[in-house]
Amino acid sequence: MEENRVKKTRIVLVPVPAQGHVTPMMQLGKALHSKGFSITVVLTQYNRVSSSKDFSDFHFLTIPGSLTESDLKNLGPQNFVLKLNQICEASFKQCIGQLLHEQCNDDIACVVYDEYMYFSHVAVQEFQLPSVVFSTTSATAFVCRSVLSRVNAESFFLDMKDPETQDKVFPGLHPLRYKDLPTSAFGPLKSTLKVYSETVNTRTASAVIINSASCLESSYLAWLQQQLQVPVYPIGPLHIAASTPSSLLEEDRSCLEWLNKQKLGSVIYISLGSLALMETNDILKMAWGLRNSNQHFLWVIRPGSIPGSDWTESLPEEFSRLVSERGYIVQWAPQMEVLRHPAVGGFWSHCGWNSTLESIGEGVPMICRPFTGDQKVNARYIERVWRIGVQLEGELDKGTVERAVKRLLVDEEGAEMRKRTIDLKEKLEASVRSGGFSCSSLGDFVNSL
Ligand code: UDX
Repeated sequence: MEENRVKKTRIVLVPVPAQGHVTPMMQLGKALHSKGFSITVVLTQYNRVSSSKDFSDFHFLTIPGSLTESDLKNLGPQNFVLKLNQICEASFKQCIGQLLHEQCNDDIACVVYDEYMYFSHVAVQEFQLPSVVFSTTSATAFVCRSVLSRVNAESFFLDMKDPETQDKVFPGLHPLRYKDLPTSAFGPLKSTLKVYSETVNTRTASAVIINSASCLESSYLAWLQQQLQVPVYPIGPLHIAASTPSSLLEEDRSCLEWLNKQKLGSVIYISLGSLALMETNDILKMAWGLRNSNQHFLWVIRPGSIPGSDWTESLPEEFSRLVSERGYIVQWAPQMEVLRHPAVGGFWSHCGWNSTLESIGEGVPMICRPFTGDQKVNARYIERVWRIGVQLEGELDKGTVERAVKRLLVDEEGAEMRKRTIDLKEKLEASVRSGGFSCSSLGDFVNSL
């Protein structure tokens, strides 16, 4: 009888249409493809990864009637996610139904959906497909979301407004203070908590895969393993295990030539990821501090990241003067290659989880300036737990910026941080090598299918 059974070899991936989610999902696709699975990626109409030669073996599907770029602009990221989950439920069911019909054989081993694409659970239940939740943030951020989804919203709101409370460690979440918790800059607390309670609910999923490694956050991984009723597989960092290009914006590679002309470890790379915004005032203070530090810098200013401006045209003339001598500005960089470049000595980062993993993976210490959500959790870990960076808190001023850059690039303290980062880099590399924890965890997950 055994040989009559259909071999289930297809995995359906459902990424959030945003850079920080698409990237790890495509890397996961590569990792699973290398284990012999066929990969189908279900995209929405916005932020589509191109089916370039890197993904020529993948099959792509589009959820009909999903949201567009202008919806994201009008709604903001948080309401975009809520709306996407409302409107995609039925159309995703239709999509999966069609896929099952076209395949003519029921070969789907499982549906892996991003924790923020929780509408997927309705279709997997309807068609009785195995499903798995994929978390693209850290385990610690997952635990925070889980804790926050159970707090009393009103009293938590009051706590967060009290400056004294903000500096206190949140009970049970050491070393995170109230102000390090992943509240959102993109919407009211109530709707953030609603989204969080949806993302931490694993429903009928049979496992959680997480892009992290036990050497980074073993205690909160253990917490998750104990609290969720399903196995948790830390299989990261995926950018080391299964690197693959998946940039949604065009990369300006001229910055690599500029880096080639700089001295070893002398440049600070600045990038605030795909969502963070910056006010003109803060940009000017940064520019002053960078100039006064006398260090060279490569600065990514993403189009649309300065409110009310397409790119940098709204900045005063002063900005060009400050950056012209030692700076190089681009709209989007090949970040992995930049971090790997020997001229780069530090990363001024918003501390998105991918950027954090990528920076550690190249042994580059960080200046942390988180903007929203889980970035605050990561920044606290970078400064306090791994001790591989400095966090700039509160109002920016040019003096603090100048000191932070010098601490990282010039002082002995920076050299110590670099050593610790390289130490962690080696542990991460070992974890994805054969016999390492993340590598075995991926093997266990595959066997579970
Ligand atoms: C956000 C959250 O902050 C993050 O923690 C969460 O996991 C996903 O959503 P984002 O702002 O996009 O992510 O930051 P990050 O997670 O760091 O991802 C950004 C990605 O874009 C990285 O993989 C980085 O290499 C890439 N990038 C960034 C570029 O390729 N070029 C750039 O110039 C800047």
